[in-house]
Amino acid sequence: MDKKRFYITTPIYYPSDKLHIGHAYCTVATDVMARYKRLAGYDVMFLTGTDEHGQKIEDRAREEGVTPQQFVDNIVTGPNGILDLWKLMNISYDRFIRTTDGYHVSAIQKIFKKMYENGDIYKGAYKGKYCKPCESFWTESQLKDGKCPDCGREVVNAEEEAYFFRASKYADRVRELLLNTNFLEPRSRVNEMVNNFIDCEGGLQDLCVSRTSFTWGVPVDFDPGHVVYVWLDALFNYMTALGYQNDQYCDLDKFWPADVHFVGKEIVRFHAIYWPAFLMSMGLPLPKKVYGHGWLNFNGDKMSKSKGNVVDPGILAERYGVDALRFFVLRTFPFGSDGNFTNELLIQTINTDLANDLGNMVSRTTAMAEKYFEGGKLPAARQEADPDANLQDMVRGLRGRYEEQMEKFQFQNALDEVFKTIQRANKYIDETAPWALAKDMPANGARLAAVLYNLLETVRICTVLLTPFMPESCGKIFEQTGADAGLRTWDSAAQWGLLPAEVQVRKGEVLFPRIDMAKELEELEKAAEEARKSALPAVELEPQATESVDFDTFCKSDFRAVKVKDCQRVKKSDKLLRFTLDDGTGTDRQILSGIAKWYQPEDLIGKTLVAIVNLPPRKMMGLASQGMLISAVHKEKGEECLHLIIVDDVIPAGAKLC
Ligand code: MSP
Repeated sequence: MDKKRFYITTPIYYPSDKLHIGHAYCTVATDVMARYKRLAGYDVMFLTGTDEHGQKIEDRAREEGVTPQQFVDNIVTGPNGILDLWKLMNISYDRFIRTTDGYHVSAIQKIFKKMYENGDIYKGAYKGKYCKPCESFWTESQLKDGKCPDCGREVVNAEEEAYFFRASKYADRVRELLLNTNFLEPRSRVNEMVNNFIDCEGGLQDLCVSRTSFTWGVPVDFDPGHVVYVWLDALFNYMTALGYQNDQYCDLDKFWPADVHFVGKEIVRFHAIYWPAFLMSMGLPLPKKVYGHGWLNFNGDKMSKSKGNVVDPGILAERYGVDALRFFVLRTFPFGSDGNFTNELLIQTINTDLANDLGNMVSRTTAMAEKYFEGGKLPAARQEADPDANLQDMVRGLRGRYEEQMEKFQFQNALDEVFKTIQRANKYIDETAPWALAKDMPANGARLAAVLYNLLETVRICTVLLTPFMPESCGKIFEQTGADAGLRTWDSAAQWGLLPAEVQVRKGEVLFPRIDMAKELEELEKAAEEARKSALPAVELEPQATESVDFDTFCKSDFRAVKVKDCQRVKKSDKLLRFTLDDGTGTDRQILSGIAKWYQPEDLIGKTLVAIVNLPPRKMMGLASQGMLISAVHKEKGEECLHLIIVDDVIPAGAKLC
């Protein structure tokens, strides 16, 4: 019999910058779902990829002085690029699509042409607002406080000849789809979509689907100068990656319609309104579901490069292990709502759930089996007692409870079921007190064997269910607790008592070491500070003056070359240096300058500098300063930098600069 099939996708990511924990969140969730379905016996297609066209990419490439293709190649396939990140995070995708792949580009051209030919795409003129980072068009009334309603950034005026998609024609069918089916989840997102975009003033607007103001996109082959709007290009990836309108793949019949598209909340609009409308226009079956998950913020703030608060999943995975990070994001935040990422929460979750609960259950069980039974091998004879049934009942029903939650994408609840069982097992250890039983051996041997066997079965079943979340660590737990491949399956997770009676246990490494919270927070803060600094612009210049100064006023400033005869630190000041200068008048001139941070006094003696000499004298730290030395100032990585203007020695002291 054919296996049941499951097709799941992540959004395809913009390779405009390094990905952060928010991107990894969605990808990890999709990976967990894909692994869970494979475990449950499905033939799974897990698609992810990159959305490589658009003005933002073209602009970023120009900034870096490379071609757009070189730019995206570096971020996708280069060192520490997206492919490396997914490898590190153990993402088991089956297919990776890049929208610059030739087969996708030509498929998009065919799709665009078909929609044009069937009358759903027509030529018009676009006038309105455009958000570059989101690649989104907005009408004036859709803006929030004059800014992009999705990301809150500035929008720019846009006016150009463009093609439009007749979205308005599909408004009724899309409304029906959203209101009367389970197409969009969580349900809480449905009203927002219908009220704001379909039943709003003016109704669902036709969508601008081509651009002429930049060239980095799929060319409209029948109208040179136009490139296809990135969202039309991007959304169809879910089908071209299966072979729609191309010969690269032939999995369309097998996997389309998709079972679920996981997407972040700000792109629900494209997936729940325009995507179904595009498919309706092409007469294609709709995906079964779009699930709009929440955002991960950092310390209560939206993660953004400019704020310097993006969390790098690579750094965290290296520090705490990939599995701990994968587990943390799904254990801590309900998938449908926003979550607030903090380092404290991460460490606390690792310590509580992984080191204390899971880690302890495994290490206590294996350590006791090794300690109390020769070579860690349990005897066959077992004697059950009262508390055993209670634990066993809980474990027997676990897979069902877990499955119910996983089917609803409620990862947090599914994990909660597993961890309630783990906590019960740790309590069972305290209730049965194996160390007390071990005091009277061999008399208590059969009872002790029963206790440890019950624990090992609990570990086994919990570990099967944790495998999609923490594949590597679960493999190690199975090794330690004597569960071979046949006992790691989905079916086996619904059956109690499958471990062989004389199971062989091998205590292994500590899987999740406890983390010293205070020390770790300090180190993370240091690392974040470094990251913030490196995100700052390399060189920051003072903006140029906008107010003009008339020539006569400017000429009143008397700039002179001055030679440093002596230079000393000013006592009790860490800022000031005291200069004794030859200004060509025959009388020494004293100037105080707040540059001690950048110069050693002795290094300046003998140098010729520039000073303005007709400023009124000023007192600083009780000393008179007759003028000011001229320096160049700028910021580098947020740090103030200063360089005195040092001129050629051939310029005599006192020469006027003009
Ligand atoms: N290229 C489009 C998607 C096209 S799909 C046909 C895009 N790319 S993106 O790189 O900007 O975002 C990809 C996904 O990452 C989106 O689902 C977005 O919601 C998600 N996230 C980006 N930042 C996030 C958080 N801070 N938290 C959770 N997810 C977030 O949109």
